[in-house]
Amino acid sequence: MNKRKILVTSALPYANGSIHLGHLVEYIQTDIWVRFQKMQGHEVHYVCADDTHGTPIMLRAEQEGITPKQLIDRVWHEHKTDFNGFHIGFDNYYTTDSPENRQFCEDIYSQLEAKGLIAKRSVEQFYDPVKQMFLPDRYIKGECPKCHAKDQYGDSCEVCGATYSSTNLVDPYSVVSGATPERKSSKHHFFKLSDPRCKAFLEKWVFESFEGQSGTTPEAKRRLQPEAANKMNEWLSGGLVDWDISRDAPYFGFPIPGTGGKKFFYVWLDAPVGYFGSFKNYFEQKQRSQAEIDEFLRPGGNTEMMHFIGKDILYFHALFWPAMLKFSGYRTPTQIYAHGFLTVNGQKMSKSRGTFITAESYLKQGLNPEWLRYYYAAKLNDSMEDIDLNFDDFIARINSDLVGKYINIASRCSGFIIKKFGGKLTHTISETSRKWFNQFLFCELGEGDTFLGRHVSIAYFYDRREYGKAIREIMLAADVANQYVDRMKPWELARSGENDTELHEICSVALNMFRILTIYLKPVLPKLAIEAERFLGVNPFTWNDANSQNRLLPDGHQINNYEHLMARIDSKQIETLIKVNKESLQPTTQPSQTKQQVQIMEEKNSATPPPSSSPDAANVKGTASATIAIDDFTKIDLRVAKIIDAEQVEGADKLLKLTLDIGAEQRTVFAGIKSAYDPAQLKGRLTIMVANLAPRKMKFGMSEGMVLAAGNGSDGPYLLAPDEGAQPGMRVK
Ligand code: 2FM
Ligand code: ZN
Repeated sequence: MNKRKILVTSALPYANGSIHLGHLVEYIQTDIWVRFQKMQGHEVHYVCADDTHGTPIMLRAEQEGITPKQLIDRVWHEHKTDFNGFHIGFDNYYTTDSPENRQFCEDIYSQLEAKGLIAKRSVEQFYDPVKQMFLPDRYIKGECPKCHAKDQYGDSCEVCGATYSSTNLVDPYSVVSGATPERKSSKHHFFKLSDPRCKAFLEKWVFESFEGQSGTTPEAKRRLQPEAANKMNEWLSGGLVDWDISRDAPYFGFPIPGTGGKKFFYVWLDAPVGYFGSFKNYFEQKQRSQAEIDEFLRPGGNTEMMHFIGKDILYFHALFWPAMLKFSGYRTPTQIYAHGFLTVNGQKMSKSRGTFITAESYLKQGLNPEWLRYYYAAKLNDSMEDIDLNFDDFIARINSDLVGKYINIASRCSGFIIKKFGGKLTHTISETSRKWFNQFLFCELGEGDTFLGRHVSIAYFYDRREYGKAIREIMLAADVANQYVDRMKPWELARSGENDTELHEICSVALNMFRILTIYLKPVLPKLAIEAERFLGVNPFTWNDANSQNRLLPDGHQINNYEHLMARIDSKQIETLIKVNKESLQPTTQPSQTKQQVQIMEEKNSATPPPSSSPDAANVKGTASATIAIDDFTKIDLRVAKIIDAEQVEGADKLLKLTLDIGAEQRTVFAGIKSAYDPAQLKGRLTIMVANLAPRKMKFGMSEGMVLAAGNGSDGPYLLAPDEGAQPGMRVK
């Protein structure tokens, strides 16, 4: 067998949200593939990273009163803990905010520029005059130009489904500050995807079969699944347009060289480059040479690069990414595998239904991560179809397949071997048992005498990501093993005590069957496999162990005490899981848009449906004095403010106009404190303001926040003031 050298990636999760069961479809899918290839003896490097740049992360950090770096460091640890919990065996889990990534981005950019593939031109966009930043479409809301539904995003209407440009919204407003956005021009940098060289390259690249070693059939050598190739055909024939790869400051990302820190690489440029950054960092840690790194990252190396992604990010991976790599002198992907989304109980994951389940809550509730790995494996195939996590089916499959069929073999037979035969297996096998064993090992291909080792067909399915078919084959083998034990009734032989030789043989054959099932399942159940290896007293399994000489452990092989390997699921555990995910959300949701919601929208996680605000909004009703979580409190950006000016407002009975200094900026706030304060007394005083309240248009002008004052209607208002030493702009926590 040729030893393959494969660099494998999963899409990089955004560093501003938690890993949830939707994300895990992809990481589990990739991890199974990687573990399988490693068991085959191939050299595989599985790398990933947090996707750390962009506007949502910048704003989220600001909202939390921390730096983006602090935010991404914290989230990195959370993500890593979640992935470890689900046994995702990355060889390196890194960050896109790394020196390696920056260097690759700058190099790719300069190579593209040298090839005449970078264009610069002015673009007019919406600009938030309060936040002083350009607004991505998702940060602009307004009235749908078609059906006039309020509060629709800048690119599409969730009510009537219309898509439009943000400039067509009626009464647009900035989701960040509430201000009316202005149109403003700025120079942007584009990757010239419309260049005929890109089209010519992509047309060839998508449809040629690659020269890797992944199987022998033409299907196995396709770069993309047929559905993905069709999509590419559509995009290519529709005409390619240049890709805007720059963003204006303020932005959290890498500055574009030569722009004086004013322009940054768009997060979607540096994200896939992050695969390379993580790989390089990993190889350097392993003290591998530059030549070895180049073997994976430059053309001509005898290596493969496989990307596992969700179907929603195919465009980035199959168009921009290969074209960018090709023309900057790097290798292009060997294959791109896209999967579908996750639904739960037949519907989109939903916070109000409690089916938007985080990885952390699943683990915290004590659910076994290998249950989910097994269930996803049983549902996954090679297509881009969505997969459904149906909890009734989940419970039934785990309890009947894993516990009832597979684990049961070991739990039924190990006791006899331990108690009666000192834990030693026999190698002797009768004609009858040999027949059963062969039926277990081979699948019949037709009516004739053609047999194929199940390990061959299962390997074929794993390699092609047809895990559902692999699991079906494994469970057919488990059925044979159980029929064998049921038919031979070792417990009766043990009771009668008349034929210990036969009892020894049956239990030994059954445990050998259990051993082989464990090899088959090891890519899916890595932790359980380690425990089974301990119980069986064997070295870590490789795939080849399923094909060893006559496939029985040697005569007298010693096993260890059996400890229960997997518990059944109780439906109450699932009920609690759903309840917990429902409950944890109640206090945080708000009927109107919040930055938090925007970030969820922006995450664009492959299996994340946009959250609907209305069902959750209903939960908020009547909970005005309910307790809130600390997260709710930290959403309010309270700052120390210095009143640098205070004036009467002509025509207003209650208001004073305050000019506040909050360190980085000045704000105008209309405060209802006229009855209690003389403007002259206020100048120079410190107070506290809500700095992230959406600006409100008032009759007298725009109010950009709120100052805090105490009062009970008849007494007050009394302006709040911080203790001595506080400085304007300090965060109040
Ligand atoms: O869609 C997403 O969740 C992105 N963070 C995926 C990036 S994958 C790659 F390009 F880095
Ligand atoms: Zn509409």
